[in-house]
Amino acid sequence: EISVGRGEDLVTLTRWVISQQQDAPEATGDLTLLLAAIQFGCKFVASKVKQAGLINLLGLTGAANVQGEEVKKLDVLANDIFRNALIASGKACILISEEDENAMVIQDKNLRGKYIVTFDPLDGSSNIDCGVSIGTIFGIFKVDDSENPNEKDVLRSGRNLISAGYCMYGSYCEMILSVGNGVNGFTLDPAIGEFIMTHPNIKMPSRGKIYSVNEGNYKHFDEPCKKYVDQVKQKYSARYVGSMVSDIHRTLLYGGIFGYPADAKSKRGKLRILYEVFPMSFLIEQAGGKASTGTQNALDLIPEHIHDRSGIWLGSKEDVEELESFYKQ
Ligand code: AHG
Ligand code: MN
Ligand code: MN
Ligand code: MN
Repeated sequence: EISVGRGEDLVTLTRWVISQQQDAPEATGDLTLLLAAIQFGCKFVASKVKQAGLINLLGLTGAANVQGEEVKKLDVLANDIFRNALIASGKACILISEEDENAMVIQDKNLRGKYIVTFDPLDGSSNIDCGVSIGTIFGIFKVDDSENPNEKDVLRSGRNLISAGYCMYGSYCEMILSVGNGVNGFTLDPAIGEFIMTHPNIKMPSRGKIYSVNEGNYKHFDEPCKKYVDQVKQKYSARYVGSMVSDIHRTLLYGGIFGYPADAKSKRGKLRILYEVFPMSFLIEQAGGKASTGTQNALDLIPEHIHDRSGIWLGSKEDVEELESFYKQ
């Protein structure tokens, strides 16, 4: 019995995904190959994020995106990397990216698979230039009809997600992934370019001691939201990174609540349903937490357009239920 590294069996992301495929009798291996492409994209972006300041990858491109945001160089690079990797996998059918105005339907029949991938190639762009942690978020749906794929295929509830995950490029690089039976975390060992399982079967505490919301928007909050924030700050600590991936990763591991509520300034909230709200809601629910707009379960939302937004609260079950109780009063 040879013990390596931490003296235990080191499970790589690749090995774990293959084990999931072997446990699923109907699996064809397509999702395994799609996740391999996403894994490659995350490794590549992780390495570019580390070097960004040294290889002139910080700062703006001078362009704006469909969101009306100033686009950073790393936004574009990450988008190109994931788009190319997903197309090359031959397992994607429709791609929805925060950075692309329209859905991309894979035209080449030889490269068209059966999955829809919604992704935020670089989340937390405002934190890139100051080196604060950022990430990539993705959600995977199965297309209805890969013969005649249509953008409308993606305008359905988050209950149709079959997989979702994020990669956080922080003091350590971690991939958090669910294929519908729990949540596992894998830390990148850059020396060997492998994600190693470090957080098996993540389960959230039923209540935390941290609340996370941009209180710079307090004056725009509705009454129930103001009342909730006024009371939660009497008992909890405040933490707000400003990258959804980082705020969610801390909430997933430590418990507590994160929110980006709809308010007078952002009537539909800021976070985008298909590639921020749905994937994070899927993961938080899979880890035993709760995802709510304040008045309904976030996964029951049905977007009308691919870049639709929604108010969202995510976190420990009891904390989110407490928030919801203010909307019932
Ligand atoms: P993105 O960088 O992909 O556009 O997302 C930014 C989002 C999200 O990461 C974060 O939770 C939120 O913007 C922060 O918004 P504020 O700066 O308005 O708090
Ligand atoms: Mn953006
Ligand atoms: Mn984002
Ligand atoms: Mn983004």
